[in-house]
Amino acid sequence: MNPQAAHAGAILTVNLDAIRSNYRLLRQQAGKAACAAAVKANAYGLGADKVGPALAAEGCRHFFVAHLDEGIALRPHLPATADIFVLHGAPPGTERELIAHGLTPVLNSLQQIAAWHALAQTLQRPLPAIFQVDTGMSRMGLPAAEAEAWLANPAFMESIPPLFLMSHLACAEHQGHPMNASQLARFLAWRRRLPQIAASLANSSGIFLGPDYQFDLVRPGAALYGIAPVAGAANPLQPVVALHGRIIQSRTIQRGDHVGYGISYSASEERQIATVGVGYADGWLRSMSNRGIAFIDGQPAPMVGTVSMDSITIDVTGIAAERVQAGATVELIGPHRSADQVAQLAGSIGYEILTDLGRRYHREYIGGL
Ligand SMILES: Cc1ncc(COP(=O)(O)O)c(C=O)c1O
Repeated sequence: MNPQAAHAGAILTVNLDAIRSNYRLLRQQAGKAACAAAVKANAYGLGADKVGPALAAEGCRHFFVAHLDEGIALRPHLPATADIFVLHGAPPGTERELIAHGLTPVLNSLQQIAAWHALAQTLQRPLPAIFQVDTGMSRMGLPAAEAEAWLANPAFMESIPPLFLMSHLACAEHQGHPMNASQLARFLAWRRRLPQIAASLANSSGIFLGPDYQFDLVRPGAALYGIAPVAGAANPLQPVVALHGRIIQSRTIQRGDHVGYGISYSASEERQIATVGVGYADGWLRSMSNRGIAFIDGQPAPMVGTVSMDSITIDVTGIAAERVQAGATVELIGPHRSADQVAQLAGSIGYEILTDLGRRYHREYIGGL
């Protein structure tokens, strides 16, 4: 084992080849639309500096980050021909930073449009951007009145050539949800007034709503990283992440003995307990207390007791002693337990499990370029 891995409480393995394969599947599913990649939040916790180049090697040319700083950090890792779009636009007063780092804003408000327009005038050249319209999520994008004000001012169209008209779906993982059709109708209404502008609506789940939702550019994130895109359906994506925690020590406890903070678990008979070096400070959510399951050579080892900051305790009764000694590793995410399954037990979503993955883990990458 590599010495750095031997130091760590857990080893996180990210399969870049699986991300590339997922990208190919999504691109195929997206038909005629180009396939972008959402690599915000450090590529959903997996490392944008590694994931970005792997996707660029697969032919991806459009990347979405949330924050200006994420775009600045990503720029050196991508070919100059790749576009990096900043979903939140530029915070007021930072517009020049986007230009300096070769980033393109998604403009979400009239205020952002006015600031970008002012910069275009100062620089005396057009500054292209994406325009996001709100189609019912009330989170990001131009509300109807602000979109009308944008369209009513021809100077904006001249100084800011629209690269895409964009919106975002609120309920796309539920294919039968009426919100999907409602948002599509609102998006089409804007699009009819701007037929010359390319359009982008679908995230991962939106791609699977079919061709009506795909337009010119799709923007998957979670599905690239192996998260299931359609609620209640089989997951067509390859798993990307494996997490192996290391056992610190094991002990035998007797009937009536307790485990962990708040003594939320008490043994009803003799049990073998192992302590693993992963806790809520590593993103192993406290809601997994007495709920999660680790696997040792495919055998389940239920989590017992409360998740601590730096450790969890698992019941390894019946598992061979040499597999539960100090230094041995146990599967927390992997072939027997997907990030989605972990999320379900934690009362969360796969997105949160990935983006919370701890910075203390030793990270190993498979494949890539
Ligand atoms: C505007 C926008 N586009 C695309 C995505 C990617 O979504 P997903 O990870 O569900 O594919 C997100 C993620 O939240 C987003 O906010």
